[in-house]
Amino acid sequence: MYLNPLFTLSTLATLAVARDTPRRIGRRCTGAISSLDDVDEAVKCTTINIESFTVPVGETFDLDLLDGTTVNVLGDITFATGTDWEGPLMQVAGDDITWNGNGHTIDGNGAYWWDGEGSNGGRTKPRPMFKVKISGTMSDVYLLNPPVQAFSVANKAALTISGATVDVADGNEDDLGHNTDAFDVSGSTSLTIKNSKIDNQDDCIAINDATDLVFDSNTCNGGHGISIGSIKTGKNVKGVTISNNVINNSQQGLRIKTYVDATDASVADVTYSGNTVTGCTKYGVVIQQDYTNSGATGEATNDVSVSNINFTGDTTTVEVEDGAKQVYVLCGSSSCSGTWDWSSLQTSGGDAGSVSNADITGWEAS
Ligand SMILES: *[C@@H]1O[C@H](CO)[C@@H](O)[C@H](O)[C@H]1NC(C)=O
Ligand SMILES: *[C@@H]1O[C@H](CO)[C@@H](O)[C@H](O)[C@H]1NC(C)=O
Repeated sequence: MYLNPLFTLSTLATLAVARDTPRRIGRRCTGAISSLDDVDEAVKCTTINIESFTVPVGETFDLDLLDGTTVNVLGDITFATGTDWEGPLMQVAGDDITWNGNGHTIDGNGAYWWDGEGSNGGRTKPRPMFKVKISGTMSDVYLLNPPVQAFSVANKAALTISGATVDVADGNEDDLGHNTDAFDVSGSTSLTIKNSKIDNQDDCIAINDATDLVFDSNTCNGGHGISIGSIKTGKNVKGVTISNNVINNSQQGLRIKTYVDATDASVADVTYSGNTVTGCTKYGVVIQQDYTNSGATGEATNDVSVSNINFTGDTTTVEVEDGAKQVYVLCGSSSCSGTWDWSSLQTSGGDAGSVSNADITGWEAS
């Protein structure tokens, strides 16, 4: 029987590494991907180049990466259509990852599925478009036409996403694009999203469950603005900075919403500064604790605490359309607490709106 003399040595080395470090150590090779068949081999390397290719319908482009991997996207990626399925279209996991999107288009061909119902009904649609479970950095990713939600982010250690584009402007035609949230964040720790450009039909970002999140210098056009929530039972959002964003032509600009029947949940320590909000058709700033999927009940509840909500630092300006409200706050009778210093908020247009059960200082409906 022939035994490779290196076999024993390399096995021992592997065992030694495995015992000393739980991290997965990769080979210093460069993997190339130009079809799904290349993925299994490529993910054994810590440098991966993705060339232009088409992903067949019904299959997830799934990258489970070694720690410290650098991914370079070197061409456009297209997702094929032809049958309804649940997705996700693309998924990446791993720690300390450097993802260089290089602005190449990742095309979800959403128009094939768009029926105006999004994830609320109609056809089964692949979602989300890109599930991101890495720590590290992700730059210059361009998502074009997601079938429904675009990015879903769940990072367990620090992650910075910069220069992303979510372009669903095509979905405005006949109102067919729906629930096209750009970023859904859930189970996230230390996430920064900056310098990104979003044009869609739903939330620019929906922060559902997160600690230490910064959303800075992004532009949001056409959707539902920047949202914390909808907060469900057991979900907590703590430590959020929303700064220097431009939000145009959206239903609302800045929003916090908690489900009317949610318990054991909280939103704490949120700071808004330097944002510019124009053309809101419903609300400029809205905080509501009466939310249900079929609308708001008008009766806020107390089981989700909302505390320390500030507009401080650089001025946030909010301008709403005729018939819209500048500010609408509906807290439970005892659930909103702490400091609500709104001295850097300037609002104009539409109607002033109303504040119930929140002790806001520095801003008054006028
Ligand atoms: C957003 O609105 C501002 C102010 O009206 C305008 O200067 C800016 O060009 C708009 N940006 C986009 C991306 O529509
Ligand atoms: C809110 O502002 C007050 C000062 O007005 C400050 O003491 C507090 O730390 C701020 N909280 C947050 C979460 O920014």
